[in-house]
Amino acid sequence: MTRTDADIILSGSEANATLADRNTHATRVAGKGADPEKKALFASVTKRIDYSPKFGTELHGVKLAELSEQQSEELAAFIAERGVVFFRNQEDLDYKQQSKLGSRWGPLHVHPLVPHNQENPEVIVLDSRLSPQSRFNTNDTWHSDISFEPAPASFSILKFETIPESGGDTAWSNGYDLYDSLSPNLQKFLEGLTATHTSEIFRTLQRVTGRQTFGKLNDSSHPVIRTNPITGWKAVYVNPVFTREIDNVTESESKWILEYLGDLIAKRLQYQVRFRWEPHSVAIWDNRSTHHTGVPDFRPYHRRGIRVTVSGEIPYFDPNSGTQAEAYKVTAAAIVAKQEAAEKAKTEANAGGQPAKTA
Ligand SMILES: [Fe+2]
Repeated sequence: MTRTDADIILSGSEANATLADRNTHATRVAGKGADPEKKALFASVTKRIDYSPKFGTELHGVKLAELSEQQSEELAAFIAERGVVFFRNQEDLDYKQQSKLGSRWGPLHVHPLVPHNQENPEVIVLDSRLSPQSRFNTNDTWHSDISFEPAPASFSILKFETIPESGGDTAWSNGYDLYDSLSPNLQKFLEGLTATHTSEIFRTLQRVTGRQTFGKLNDSSHPVIRTNPITGWKAVYVNPVFTREIDNVTESESKWILEYLGDLIAKRLQYQVRFRWEPHSVAIWDNRSTHHTGVPDFRPYHRRGIRVTVSGEIPYFDPNSGTQAEAYKVTAAAIVAKQEAAEKAKTEANAGGQPAKTA
């Protein structure tokens, strides 16, 4: 009997077929209980650039390859608070150290379909030449990494070594802020719901290309509003790539809810930050409370990078969770106080420099 291409692919994948089936969930919450002031981490920070008051921060002075255990814990907590944190000039962070950093935060995820190195199956190469722009390119639409898994990603660590001469930014959207923007009635309604996330897009890709799989392509049901276990804040957790339907509502209601939330994720600039990559830049984000997308505007330039993805806990919703909006009141008050102090100092300096008024 003649072996077909499909036979060859299937026999070739047998040896590796269970790699992704070994994926498991985190048994501890990295970053929970870290020093709220993050003194160890900030001891090495030379400059902090907040992209907006609530979301996204660039830290200078930190060498990710040399973080202590304590600094990694504080960084995990800081990423959960800021959603996404950016670093420049991380030449020293090779893929093994990238994996080591991720493994401090939880089990590293082996992707069921994205090709990977057999010795380090958790390391994914994102190469624009290997993933042509198509409807199967999940990186170019808003999503949260591997949300179809029973234990989806807590953190993703992405480093680009080759970047386009222009274009190719990545954008993130703040799921905490999105939740906080909803009316209390809609918040309450969504809090009672779960949604089914599927690997359908990868199943289709596998069917069309015959590409090898490394384990089961999972489907999972997760809360629509998810509690971040580090911050304890609520965030919207559905995305246009992997969320197929809202459970236990009609098909048209599900469509409406997903379209509405998907529109908020994609179209509201006030919830978003955008990162311009440089060679050896690194972005680390918390997938539990953010969504992200590549900006597909750079081809034919080449982009190549490495991603390591950390499996988190089984997603849950705790009705007693707090919100970023509540926590932000403290931040906002501090910003107002700082502004007022600066304005007062300026007024006093101006008054001191003026010639004395004569009656
Ligand atoms: Fe992604």
